[in-house]
Amino acid sequence: MSKLLIKNAQIVTMNKAEEIMHGDILIENDRIAAMGPNLDSGPVDRVIDAANRTVIPGFVQTHIHLCQTLFRGKGDDLELMDWLRKRIWPLEAAHDEESLYYSAMLGIGELIASGTTTIVDMETVHHTDSAFQAIAKSGIRALSGKVMMDRKSSDIPAELQEETADSIQESVDLLEKWHGHDNGRIQYAFSPRFVISCTEQLLTEVRDLSASYNVKVHTHASENKGEIEIVQAETGMRNVVYLDHIGLANERLILAHAIWLDAEEKRILRERGVHVSHCPGSNLKLASGIAETPELLHAHVSVSLGADGAPCNNNLDMFNEMRLAALIQKPAHGPTAMDARTVFRMATIGGARAVGLADQIGSLEVGKKADLAILNLYNFHTFPSFDVDPISRIVYSATRADVETTIIDGKVVMHQGIMATVDKEI
Ligand code: GUN
Ligand code: FE
Repeated sequence: MSKLLIKNAQIVTMNKAEEIMHGDILIENDRIAAMGPNLDSGPVDRVIDAANRTVIPGFVQTHIHLCQTLFRGKGDDLELMDWLRKRIWPLEAAHDEESLYYSAMLGIGELIASGTTTIVDMETVHHTDSAFQAIAKSGIRALSGKVMMDRKSSDIPAELQEETADSIQESVDLLEKWHGHDNGRIQYAFSPRFVISCTEQLLTEVRDLSASYNVKVHTHASENKGEIEIVQAETGMRNVVYLDHIGLANERLILAHAIWLDAEEKRILRERGVHVSHCPGSNLKLASGIAETPELLHAHVSVSLGADGAPCNNNLDMFNEMRLAALIQKPAHGPTAMDARTVFRMATIGGARAVGLADQIGSLEVGKKADLAILNLYNFHTFPSFDVDPISRIVYSATRADVETTIIDGKVVMHQGIMATVDKEI
């Protein structure tokens, strides 16, 4: 058994019983074995001195495109549909196995370095196995899948247009190869890109496969008004109403963006237990809009956070998303509409709930997986001030530079800027 002891930390547990505590965390293999002051751990393999450091649950990002990391800077100052047609689809079509692997590794490196320990990732049409290889090697916890695009359109490069049966077969082959890999760290998620790029037959088959394999479905919806108009013209329905009509609106669905919703769509999201992934940075940069997150949360819709792809945000850092999620609501809804605790919860336990792992990750508790980050909040911009709430300090002033160590499944995957891989410890 391997034993790791983190000593003398301030711990933001996100556990309702004791949200913030001081003391030690004992990790045995992949799990938290004990927490408390001055733990009597017996002999351990490694000690990390976390005096003056803050330990937090690792962030769970519920919408990422690792395949797009290399496209940063190549699709700026465009709206969604132009951005996809002119830049992103041609770039995705040009990926080969190697470029996709490096795009994924680069993204994962940024995510881990900024304290993200779990992602829900959408790949491109081809070479998704390369992204799974990168995920497997890096140690990040991930739900990922090949993007599905079987609807014929003159807008979409020929290389990205697939036959329905091929799209399904390739997805199932990847699922059977990767779902549950490395003690459950890797899961498959069916990834129909959005209604515009998918036939009804494909969406219906995905519905049935997601139920029979009990895996998540990850898609985009209601991100942009132009997108909604196309869906309306093709289906005669609002986006979320159409997904519900297919039977996809259920607790296995993770829906990225969900900005422009009418009352019926909000009711569907709530009643069916759909998980919304709010991407505030992307929503601003692609001029998509400001999501009604306070209203959704108030109505008990599950909302978590994601950075989306690097070229729609230019930053995969969850600190940025948390801060934006809070700030963009304040002018219209007042200073407490999205407070620091609310967004921190969305970034941790809220994301864990969306991926169906709230009993495993998302908070620091004995018995849960050891997925966490150790922060140094005593950098010059947050000069020691002991009466500052650490959650407020993290949301409003922390950055990637403050993350000293990231641990996933009990393994140190980043320490003081140096990345590990599953076969090379640091
Ligand atoms: N909608 C369909 N595809 C995409 C994508 O790659 N990124 C974003 N932000 N929205 C999409
Ligand atoms: Fe996206």
